[in-house]
Amino acid sequence: MDKLIIKGGKKLTGEVSVSGSKNAALPIFVSTILAPGLNEIRNVPFLRDINTTIKVLESLGAVVEGNGNIVRIDTTHVNNVEATYDLVKTMRASVLVLGPLLARHGRARVSLPGGCAIGARPINLHLKGLAALGADIRLEHGYVEAKAKKLKGARINFDISTVGGTEQLMMAAALATGETVLENAAREPEIIDLAEILIKMGARIDGAGTDTVRITGVKELAPVAHDVMPDRIEAGTFMVAAAITGGDIKIRNMNLEHLDALVFKLQDAGVEITNRDNVVRVKGPRRPKAVNIKTRPYPGFPTDMQAQFMALMCVADGASVISENIFENRFMHVSELLRFGADITVEGNTATVKGVKKLSGAPVMATDLRASASLILAGLASDNTTEISRIYHLDRGYESIEKKLAGLGADIQRVKE
Ligand code: EPZ
Repeated sequence: MDKLIIKGGKKLTGEVSVSGSKNAALPIFVSTILAPGLNEIRNVPFLRDINTTIKVLESLGAVVEGNGNIVRIDTTHVNNVEATYDLVKTMRASVLVLGPLLARHGRARVSLPGGCAIGARPINLHLKGLAALGADIRLEHGYVEAKAKKLKGARINFDISTVGGTEQLMMAAALATGETVLENAAREPEIIDLAEILIKMGARIDGAGTDTVRITGVKELAPVAHDVMPDRIEAGTFMVAAAITGGDIKIRNMNLEHLDALVFKLQDAGVEITNRDNVVRVKGPRRPKAVNIKTRPYPGFPTDMQAQFMALMCVADGASVISENIFENRFMHVSELLRFGADITVEGNTATVKGVKKLSGAPVMATDLRASASLILAGLASDNTTEISRIYHLDRGYESIEKKLAGLGADIQRVKE
């Protein structure tokens, strides 16, 4: 197993380029099941979760060439309708194959994903939506057994605005008979990217990115080429890296509009952010001001940036209150941040962070993807050395982050444990 060694205290400077979005690429890869033939997906990040998605598609009968940047997916012979536990348990987004398999083959057998570090993460809303489209859904031995001669359009109202649920139902409804309306749909940019490839394939979708998405089913979809949008969470992580080190960096290939909530909070904390000719410049203050955040569905403050922002608040001038309203257990980075000398107390879904002047490096352990990023950020801001173990969590969602940060002047290296 690898670990990261960071010698903190360096102000980051220079330029970095953002990779394609993990959370757009995963559903986009799955959508190719709906369009039998050769699909070409570009701007794909080299990530563990991409490799896992490729394994899932291959287990269903797809032929995949490449695992990053340009990936060709031939779904002509996707005839197996079972996604097994060993694959789904490593990446819960695999459950997204359920809707497309049902839409294409009228049946699917997909393992329930099980829990994950940050919460129970049920898929009840996915299943309720598919049942509303006429699917017969049974849970047996940890698997979802789904059948539907032909899915029929319906009105679906999500109790919670679910990203995966919206993606699942948008894909299933694309080949259903008649119109489907998704109310209280999630509005994340990744959903717009998925709708864009589906529309290119021939789907009829209106309102993606708003809380009401209308899908009129069509007979069939055709394979296409598509460029994945930039990863807004990777971009946000680099913005916080500049902020926490008092650095001055330029970020290419990012879409600043996807991060309004984060931008406003960083500016409140004293970070200067400018956008010229599609290059975003981020200048950190000598010491950030304390700012309160509440995570919310898009366009609210993204839960996937909560851990990173908490690291920044650990060195802020003042106390900040951070409330996590999306997942029930997304404060596992707190106990690791305390090892850096941070002052954080947690009450339920609220963490109070009292900024300290300086963090000091320590051996810490990554627990989940975004928690790993927050530990790197704390390490960059600490004096002396930080060692982060279990960084396989990091490799799920960040492409060569240590190389990119070293390119910005960080003293960071990956070593074999
Ligand atoms: C997506 O997860 C992202 N993953 C997550 O990013 C992100 O944190 C999350 O959306 C919220 O923005 C991918 O896109 C692959 P949800 P998803 O369904 O779709 C509850 C990362 O770090 N819920 O919007 O699983 C659920 O428990 C990852 O890149 C139900 O109760 O999130 C949660 O509390 C982490 N029943 C809330 O809704 C359901 O059927 C939001 O979950 C579905 C969800």
